[in-house]
Amino acid sequence: MKILLLGFGNVGKAFRKLVNEKDRAKELQNVKIIGIVNSKGLMIGDNENFKVDKKIDLLQAIDEVQPDVIVDMLPANYNNGEPSLSLYLNALHKGIHVITTNKAPLALKYSEIMKEAEKHNAKVLFQGTVMSGTPSVNLYKVMPGQRVFRIKGILNGTTNYILTKMYEGLDYNSALKEAQDKGYAERDPELDINGFDAAGKISILTNVYFGKNITIHDVKFEGIKNINNELINKTREKGTKIKLIAYSDGKETYVKPLEIDKNDPLYNVNGVLNALEIESDIQNTTIIGPGAGPINAAYGALSDLILLIRT
Ligand SMILES: NC(=O)c1ccc[n+]([C@@H]2O[C@H](COP(=O)([O-])OP(=O)(O)OC[C@H]3O[C@@H](n4cnc5c(N)ncnc54)[C@H](OP(=O)(O)O)[C@@H]3O)[C@@H](O)[C@H]2O)c1
Repeated sequence: MKILLLGFGNVGKAFRKLVNEKDRAKELQNVKIIGIVNSKGLMIGDNENFKVDKKIDLLQAIDEVQPDVIVDMLPANYNNGEPSLSLYLNALHKGIHVITTNKAPLALKYSEIMKEAEKHNAKVLFQGTVMSGTPSVNLYKVMPGQRVFRIKGILNGTTNYILTKMYEGLDYNSALKEAQDKGYAERDPELDINGFDAAGKISILTNVYFGKNITIHDVKFEGIKNINNELINKTREKGTKIKLIAYSDGKETYVKPLEIDKNDPLYNVNGVLNALEIESDIQNTTIIGPGAGPINAAYGALSDLILLIRT
Protein backbone atom coordinates (compact mmCIF):
# COMPACT_ATOMS: atom_id res chain seq x y z
CA MET A 1 0.00 0.00 0.00
CA LYS A 2 1.82 3.06 -1.28
CA ILE A 3 0.78 6.44 0.09
CA LEU A 4 1.12 9.92 -1.29
CA LEU A 5 0.73 12.26 1.69
CA LEU A 6 -0.65 15.69 0.80
CA GLY A 7 0.21 18.23 3.50
CA PHE A 8 2.94 17.83 6.08
CA GLY A 9 1.85 20.18 8.84
CA ASN A 10 0.62 19.25 12.33
CA VAL A 11 -1.63 16.39 11.21
CA GLY A 12 0.57 15.19 8.33
CA LYS A 13 3.58 14.81 10.63
CA ALA A 14 1.52 12.98 13.27
CA PHE A 15 0.16 10.68 10.55
CA ARG A 16 3.64 9.70 9.33
CA LYS A 17 4.65 8.95 12.92
CA LEU A 18 1.64 6.67 13.43
CA VAL A 19 2.12 4.86 10.11
CA ASN A 20 5.71 4.07 11.08
CA GLU A 21 4.70 2.58 14.44
CA LYS A 22 4.24 -0.83 12.84
CA ASP A 23 3.24 -2.63 16.05
CA ARG A 24 -0.11 -0.80 16.02
CA ALA A 25 -1.61 -3.19 13.48
CA LYS A 26 -0.30 -6.00 11.31
CA GLU A 27 -1.85 -4.26 8.30
CA LEU A 28 0.78 -1.52 8.62
CA GLN A 29 3.66 -3.87 7.77
CA ASN A 30 3.24 -3.29 4.05
CA VAL A 31 2.31 0.37 4.16
CA LYS A 32 4.81 2.89 2.86
CA ILE A 33 4.63 6.65 2.48
CA ILE A 34 6.54 7.20 -0.75
CA GLY A 35 5.73 10.82 -1.47
CA ILE A 36 5.02 13.90 0.62
CA VAL A 37 3.74 17.21 -0.69
CA ASN A 38 3.93 20.52 1.11
CA SER A 39 3.88 24.10 -0.13
CA LYS A 40 7.50 23.77 -1.24
CA GLY A 41 6.84 20.84 -3.55
CA LEU A 42 7.06 17.05 -3.74
CA MET A 43 9.50 15.00 -1.73
CA ILE A 44 10.02 11.42 -2.78
CA GLY A 45 11.28 8.89 -0.30
CA ASP A 46 10.90 5.50 1.28
CA ASN A 47 8.98 6.06 4.50
CA GLU A 48 11.90 7.46 6.48
CA ASN A 49 14.11 9.61 4.28
CA PHE A 50 12.59 12.17 2.01
CA LYS A 51 15.37 13.87 0.16
CA VAL A 52 14.53 14.78 -3.37
CA ASP A 53 12.77 18.12 -3.46
CA LYS A 54 10.88 18.85 -6.64
CA LYS A 55 8.84 21.88 -7.42
CA ILE A 56 5.90 20.15 -9.02
CA ASP A 57 2.25 20.70 -9.73
CA LEU A 58 0.03 18.85 -7.22
CA LEU A 59 -1.77 16.88 -9.93
CA GLN A 60 1.57 15.88 -11.44
CA ALA A 61 2.58 14.44 -8.08
CA ILE A 62 -0.04 11.71 -8.44
CA ASP A 63 1.42 10.60 -11.79
CA GLU A 64 4.95 10.89 -10.51
CA VAL A 65 4.36 8.81 -7.36
CA GLN A 66 1.59 6.45 -8.61
CA PRO A 67 0.22 5.76 -5.13
CA ASP A 68 -2.52 3.30 -4.14
CA VAL A 69 -4.01 5.92 -1.86
CA ILE A 70 -3.70 9.68 -1.38
CA VAL A 71 -4.01 10.99 2.16
CA ASP A 72 -5.20 14.61 2.22
CA MET A 73 -4.02 16.73 5.15
CA LEU A 74 -4.03 20.06 3.33
CA PRO A 75 -5.79 23.16 4.74
CA ALA A 76 -9.56 23.43 4.32
CA ASN A 77 -10.63 25.81 1.56
CA TYR A 78 -14.36 26.55 1.83
CA ASN A 79 -14.41 28.73 -1.27
CA ASN A 80 -14.18 25.84 -3.70
CA GLY A 81 -12.49 22.90 -1.95
CA GLU A 82 -9.33 23.33 -4.00
CA PRO A 83 -6.68 22.12 -4.51
CA SER A 84 -7.95 18.99 -2.75
CA LEU A 85 -11.14 18.59 -4.77
CA SER A 86 -9.32 18.33 -8.12
CA LEU A 87 -6.81 15.96 -6.56
CA TYR A 88 -9.60 13.63 -5.36
CA LEU A 89 -11.36 13.60 -8.72
CA ASN A 90 -8.09 12.97 -10.53
CA ALA A 91 -7.03 10.18 -8.15
CA LEU A 92 -10.44 8.50 -8.08
CA HIS A 93 -10.59 8.55 -11.88
CA LYS A 94 -7.43 6.45 -11.82
CA GLY A 95 -8.86 4.07 -9.20
CA ILE A 96 -6.68 5.54 -6.43
CA HIS A 97 -8.35 5.64 -2.99
CA VAL A 98 -8.72 8.85 -0.99
CA ILE A 99 -8.37 9.26 2.78
CA THR A 100 -8.88 12.74 4.18
CA THR A 101 -9.00 14.83 7.33
CA ASN A 102 -9.89 17.92 5.25
CA LYS A 103 -13.65 18.46 5.43
CA ALA A 104 -14.05 21.29 2.90
CA PRO A 105 -14.23 19.19 -0.31
CA LEU A 106 -16.76 16.79 1.25
CA ALA A 107 -18.83 19.58 2.78
CA LEU A 108 -19.04 21.26 -0.63
CA LYS A 109 -19.06 18.45 -3.23
CA TYR A 110 -19.95 15.20 -1.47
CA SER A 111 -22.11 13.83 -4.25
CA GLU A 112 -19.63 14.59 -7.04
CA ILE A 113 -16.78 12.94 -5.13
CA MET A 114 -18.78 9.83 -4.21
CA LYS A 115 -20.08 9.36 -7.76
CA GLU A 116 -16.55 9.45 -9.14
CA ALA A 117 -15.41 6.95 -6.49
CA GLU A 118 -18.25 4.57 -7.31
CA LYS A 119 -17.62 4.81 -11.04
CA HIS A 120 -14.01 3.74 -10.65
CA ASN A 121 -14.44 1.33 -7.76
CA ALA A 122 -12.30 3.40 -5.43
CA LYS A 123 -12.95 4.32 -1.80
CA VAL A 124 -13.21 7.68 -0.05
CA LEU A 125 -12.68 7.46 3.71
CA PHE A 126 -13.01 10.49 5.93
CA GLN A 127 -13.28 9.65 9.63
CA GLY A 128 -10.79 12.43 10.42
CA THR A 129 -13.14 15.13 9.11
CA VAL A 130 -15.67 14.84 11.97
CA MET A 131 -14.54 14.38 15.60
CA SER A 132 -11.01 13.45 14.41
CA GLY A 133 -10.13 10.02 15.83
CA THR A 134 -13.40 9.56 17.74
CA PRO A 135 -15.35 7.23 15.41
CA SER A 136 -18.33 9.36 14.37
CA VAL A 137 -18.31 8.55 10.65
CA ASN A 138 -16.99 5.02 11.04
CA LEU A 139 -19.39 4.16 13.88
CA TYR A 140 -22.17 4.01 11.29
CA LYS A 141 -20.40 1.10 9.60
CA VAL A 142 -20.73 -1.09 12.70
CA MET A 143 -24.42 -0.44 13.37
CA PRO A 144 -26.06 -1.99 10.29
CA GLY A 145 -29.79 -2.62 10.40
CA GLN A 146 -30.63 0.18 12.81
CA ARG A 147 -33.18 2.72 11.65
CA VAL A 148 -31.55 5.99 12.61
CA PHE A 149 -34.14 8.67 13.43
CA ARG A 150 -31.87 11.53 14.37
CA ILE A 151 -28.33 12.49 15.24
CA LYS A 152 -27.37 15.31 17.55
CA GLY A 153 -23.93 16.40 18.62
CA ILE A 154 -21.40 18.84 19.92
CA LEU A 155 -19.03 18.94 16.97
CA ASN A 156 -16.94 22.03 17.62
CA GLY A 157 -14.43 22.05 20.47
CA THR A 158 -13.69 25.79 20.48
CA THR A 159 -17.30 26.86 21.03
CA ASN A 160 -17.88 24.13 23.59
CA TYR A 161 -14.80 25.33 25.48
CA ILE A 162 -16.05 28.94 25.44
CA LEU A 163 -19.56 27.96 26.62
CA THR A 164 -18.08 25.79 29.37
CA LYS A 165 -15.89 28.62 30.61
CA MET A 166 -18.82 31.07 30.49
CA TYR A 167 -20.86 28.59 32.54
CA GLU A 168 -18.00 28.68 35.07
CA GLY A 169 -18.26 32.50 35.18
CA LEU A 170 -15.86 33.90 32.57
CA ASP A 171 -17.17 36.47 30.08
CA TYR A 172 -17.21 35.69 26.36
CA ASN A 173 -14.05 37.63 25.43
CA SER A 174 -11.95 36.17 28.26
CA ALA A 175 -13.19 32.66 27.42
CA LEU A 176 -12.29 33.15 23.75
CA LYS A 177 -8.88 34.50 24.67
CA GLU A 178 -8.25 31.51 26.91
CA ALA A 179 -9.22 29.14 24.07
CA GLN A 180 -6.77 30.96 21.78
CA ASP A 181 -3.98 30.97 24.39
CA LYS A 182 -4.36 27.23 24.84
CA GLY A 183 -4.20 26.68 21.08
CA TYR A 184 -7.80 25.39 20.75
CA ALA A 185 -9.09 28.30 18.71
CA GLU A 186 -7.62 29.64 15.48
CA ARG A 187 -6.24 33.15 15.43
CA ASP A 188 -9.30 33.90 13.31
CA PRO A 189 -11.91 31.75 15.09
CA GLU A 190 -14.83 33.13 13.06
CA LEU A 191 -15.69 29.81 11.36
CA ASP A 192 -15.91 28.08 14.75
CA ILE A 193 -17.80 30.87 16.52
CA ASN A 194 -20.41 31.39 13.81
CA GLY A 195 -21.28 27.69 13.57
CA PHE A 196 -19.88 27.17 10.06
CA ASP A 197 -17.36 24.49 11.07
CA ALA A 198 -20.05 22.46 12.84
CA ALA A 199 -22.36 22.98 9.84
CA GLY A 200 -19.74 21.39 7.55
CA LYS A 201 -19.46 18.43 9.91
CA ILE A 202 -23.19 17.84 10.31
CA SER A 203 -23.60 17.99 6.50
CA ILE A 204 -21.06 15.16 6.20
CA LEU A 205 -22.73 13.11 8.96
CA THR A 206 -26.17 13.66 7.41
CA ASN A 207 -24.93 12.17 4.15
CA VAL A 208 -23.44 9.19 5.98
CA TYR A 209 -26.29 8.46 8.43
CA PHE A 210 -29.23 9.27 6.16
CA GLY A 211 -27.83 8.50 2.70
CA LYS A 212 -28.28 12.10 1.57
CA ASN A 213 -26.22 14.29 -0.72
CA ILE A 214 -26.40 17.66 1.02
CA THR A 215 -23.73 20.34 1.24
CA ILE A 216 -22.82 22.83 3.93
CA HIS A 217 -25.06 25.36 2.14
CA ASP A 218 -28.12 23.23 2.99
CA VAL A 219 -27.46 23.59 6.72
CA LYS A 220 -29.04 26.44 8.68
CA PHE A 221 -26.45 27.61 11.13
CA GLU A 222 -26.22 30.03 14.00
CA GLY A 223 -23.21 30.48 16.27
CA ILE A 224 -22.69 31.53 19.87
CA LYS A 225 -22.19 35.29 19.44
CA ASN A 226 -25.54 36.15 21.00
CA ILE A 227 -24.95 34.06 24.08
CA ASN A 228 -24.15 36.27 27.05
CA ASN A 229 -23.48 35.67 30.73
CA GLU A 230 -26.97 36.82 31.70
CA LEU A 231 -28.50 34.06 29.59
CA ILE A 232 -26.03 31.51 30.90
CA ASN A 233 -26.71 32.53 34.53
CA LYS A 234 -30.44 32.02 33.97
CA THR A 235 -29.93 28.52 32.58
CA ARG A 236 -27.53 27.64 35.41
CA GLU A 237 -30.21 28.62 37.94
CA LYS A 238 -32.68 26.37 36.10
CA GLY A 239 -30.19 23.49 36.09
CA THR A 240 -29.72 23.52 32.33
CA LYS A 241 -26.81 24.41 30.05
CA ILE A 242 -26.51 26.06 26.65
CA LYS A 243 -24.61 23.98 24.08
CA LEU A 244 -23.97 24.57 20.39
CA ILE A 245 -25.92 21.66 18.95
CA ALA A 246 -25.56 20.20 15.46
CA TYR A 247 -28.74 18.30 14.59
CA SER A 248 -30.04 16.24 11.70
CA ASP A 249 -32.97 13.91 11.09
CA GLY A 250 -32.26 13.65 7.38
CA LYS A 251 -34.87 16.29 6.54
CA GLU A 252 -33.98 19.13 8.83
CA THR A 253 -30.32 19.90 9.47
CA TYR A 254 -29.11 22.78 11.61
CA VAL A 255 -26.53 24.13 14.04
CA LYS A 256 -27.72 26.40 16.84
CA PRO A 257 -27.31 27.07 20.58
CA LEU A 258 -29.88 25.05 22.53
CA GLU A 259 -30.75 24.57 26.17
CA ILE A 260 -29.84 21.07 27.33
CA ASP A 261 -31.13 19.53 30.55
CA LYS A 262 -29.34 17.28 33.05
CA ASN A 263 -30.75 14.06 31.61
CA ASP A 264 -29.24 14.66 28.20
CA PRO A 265 -25.91 12.84 27.68
CA LEU A 266 -24.57 16.04 26.08
CA TYR A 267 -25.04 17.97 29.36
CA ASN A 268 -21.76 16.67 30.78
CA VAL A 269 -19.71 17.08 27.60
CA ASN A 270 -17.50 19.99 28.61
CA GLY A 271 -14.37 21.83 27.48
CA VAL A 272 -12.97 20.84 24.10
CA LEU A 273 -14.67 17.45 24.13
CA ASN A 274 -17.03 16.54 21.28
CA ALA A 275 -19.95 14.12 21.33
CA LEU A 276 -22.51 12.52 19.06
CA GLU A 277 -25.84 11.01 20.07
CA ILE A 278 -27.45 8.61 17.60
CA GLU A 279 -31.11 7.82 18.15
CA SER A 280 -32.46 4.75 16.38
CA ASP A 281 -35.39 2.35 16.66
CA ILE A 282 -33.16 -0.10 18.54
CA GLN A 283 -31.33 2.13 21.00
CA ASN A 284 -29.67 5.45 21.69
CA THR A 285 -25.90 5.47 21.40
CA THR A 286 -23.62 8.30 22.49
CA ILE A 287 -19.93 8.64 21.82
CA ILE A 288 -17.75 11.22 23.54
CA GLY A 289 -14.13 12.02 22.75
CA PRO A 290 -11.65 14.57 21.51
CA GLY A 291 -12.74 16.35 18.35
CA ALA A 292 -9.36 17.77 17.42
CA GLY A 293 -5.63 17.54 18.02
CA PRO A 294 -3.01 16.51 15.46
CA ILE A 295 -2.52 12.98 16.79
CA ASN A 296 -6.30 12.44 17.05
CA ALA A 297 -6.97 13.68 13.52
CA ALA A 298 -4.06 11.60 12.23
CA TYR A 299 -5.50 8.56 14.02
CA GLY A 300 -8.83 9.13 12.23
CA ALA A 301 -6.93 8.74 8.95
CA LEU A 302 -4.87 5.82 10.26
CA SER A 303 -8.02 3.93 11.27
CA ASP A 304 -9.40 4.54 7.76
CA LEU A 305 -6.19 3.20 6.27
CA ILE A 306 -6.27 0.01 8.34
CA LEU A 307 -9.97 -0.52 7.56
CA LEU A 308 -9.25 0.04 3.85
CA ILE A 309 -6.56 -2.66 3.87
CA ARG A 310 -8.90 -5.06 5.71
CA THR A 311 -11.70 -4.76 3.14
N1 LIG B 1 -5.20 20.12 13.57
C1 LIG B 1 -6.29 19.45 13.94
O1 LIG B 1 -6.53 19.22 15.13
C2 LIG B 1 -7.26 18.93 12.90
C3 LIG B 1 -8.32 18.10 13.30
C4 LIG B 1 -9.19 17.58 12.32
C5 LIG B 1 -9.00 17.93 10.99
N2 LIG B 1 -7.98 18.76 10.65
C6 LIG B 1 -7.79 19.10 9.22
O2 LIG B 1 -6.60 18.48 8.73
C7 LIG B 1 -5.99 19.32 7.74
C8 LIG B 1 -4.55 19.61 8.12
O3 LIG B 1 -4.51 20.33 9.33
P1 LIG B 1 -3.12 20.81 9.99
O4 LIG B 1 -3.45 21.28 11.34
O5 LIG B 1 -2.07 19.75 9.84
O6 LIG B 1 -2.71 22.05 9.03
P2 LIG B 1 -1.28 22.72 8.85
O7 LIG B 1 -0.42 22.43 10.04
O8 LIG B 1 -1.52 24.12 8.45
O9 LIG B 1 -0.62 21.94 7.60
C9 LIG B 1 -1.01 22.13 6.28
C10 LIG B 1 0.02 21.53 5.34
O10 LIG B 1 -0.41 21.73 3.99
C11 LIG B 1 0.65 22.30 3.21
N3 LIG B 1 0.07 23.13 2.16
C12 LIG B 1 -0.73 24.23 2.31
N4 LIG B 1 -1.11 24.68 1.09
C13 LIG B 1 -0.53 23.87 0.17
C14 LIG B 1 -0.53 23.83 -1.26
N5 LIG B 1 -1.23 24.70 -1.98
N6 LIG B 1 0.18 22.87 -1.87
C15 LIG B 1 0.89 21.98 -1.16
N7 LIG B 1 0.92 21.95 0.18
C16 LIG B 1 0.24 22.89 0.84
C17 LIG B 1 1.48 23.08 4.20
O11 LIG B 1 2.77 23.24 3.65
P3 LIG B 1 3.99 23.92 4.47
O12 LIG B 1 4.38 22.89 5.51
O13 LIG B 1 5.05 24.08 3.43
O14 LIG B 1 3.45 25.18 5.03
C18 LIG B 1 1.42 22.15 5.41
O15 LIG B 1 2.41 21.14 5.29
C19 LIG B 1 -6.88 20.56 7.64
O16 LIG B 1 -7.79 20.41 6.58
C20 LIG B 1 -7.61 20.59 8.98
O17 LIG B 1 -8.86 21.25 8.90
C21 LIG B 1 -7.11 19.26 11.56
